[in-house]
Amino acid sequence: MTLKLNSNSLILGIESSCDETAAAVLRGGREILSSVVASQDKLHARFGGVVPEVASRKHVEVITIVVDDAMKRAGVNWDDLAAIAVTQGPGLIGSLLVGMSAAKGYAIGRGLPLIGVNHIEGHVMSNFVHEPGEPPAGEDLMPTLCLVASGGHSDLVLISDWGQYLILGWTRDDAAGEALDKAARVMGLGYPGGPVIDRLARGGNPAAIGFPRPVIAGSLDFSFSGLKTALVRHVQEHGLEATPGGLADLAASFQQAVADTLVRNVRAAAAHWRVRQIMMAGGVAANSCLRAGMSALQAELGIPVHYPALRFCTDNAAMVAAAGYVTGLRKGASELNMDPYSTLPLAEHVPNGG
Ligand code: KG4
Ligand code: ZN
Repeated sequence: MTLKLNSNSLILGIESSCDETAAAVLRGGREILSSVVASQDKLHARFGGVVPEVASRKHVEVITIVVDDAMKRAGVNWDDLAAIAVTQGPGLIGSLLVGMSAAKGYAIGRGLPLIGVNHIEGHVMSNFVHEPGEPPAGEDLMPTLCLVASGGHSDLVLISDWGQYLILGWTRDDAAGEALDKAARVMGLGYPGGPVIDRLARGGNPAAIGFPRPVIAGSLDFSFSGLKTALVRHVQEHGLEATPGGLADLAASFQQAVADTLVRNVRAAAAHWRVRQIMMAGGVAANSCLRAGMSALQAELGIPVHYPALRFCTDNAAMVAAAGYVTGLRKGASELNMDPYSTLPLAEHVPNGG
């Protein structure tokens, strides 16, 4: 189906790659008319992490309710839409299938073009969405370096232009958010761990315990599993309350090690590629310690550091509609028989980061 997009085009975005069911309507790829997110956090909390089968079933239960709600809040009709954008990957395959099937159903039923979106490009685009009446959020300053740090990803994305990306580094094992979630489980803090550690760490001393800052020689890739092992070993040997600040010291020291590791590679990538701005995205971009580290980097490098609004750091569909707009302009509509993929690289990975 032919796709025609302009700065007034309305796109319905649908996101279901992990444990958030989300739908949003955006005008011109940037102005948010509605954004609805149904989080499954509470459902997975008792398991200490996302259970894929449980996630898929919940998506099935709520997806049409979430889409209807997003359409109603936007105050638009199906005939007003120019296209439907849906996350094609990466993510949990069962979860992706629910959003993809729903999007195909709506597209066929309403005669609308469909646009498959890369979830990581979505996270990048969360820097550019804004409420009606507000000025556009991020600026198109190229090249831009975006750190996408979430429960599933720790990617350093170089953006030379829209659609022209390079992955300068990614995680070889655990993602940054996954490391925080696993650490929280070791500390008995529940799921998701990132926000709890963030809160608890405010009362702790980040220098109390000397955790490693994992480095991979000759690469900007990340590896957080050794850091997690260091935490487990520390707790086995010294318990949870080894220093005067107790659990708060442990949380602050671990969080500082994760943040320092991320900031160190962002600094190296930004300097090597002489980027004009740095952007953050993903759930971990909400972390206050990481934000403090990035502010220091902003002063050090003299280039702006941009964050999405807090509610657009974690998974949402506004970012999917935004990515749908740039993807649609670039590639046109997707085939109605497209498949979702659990692994879907956004771009080529540069092994040595530069
Ligand atoms: O982007 P997101 O919603 O989902 C994925 O695509 O993975 O990110 C969720 C991750 C979880 O690991 C959660 O612990 C982490 O983001 N997170 C945080 C904070 N808020 C969420 N990590 C650190 N500090 C926070 N304030
Ligand atoms: Zn995500």
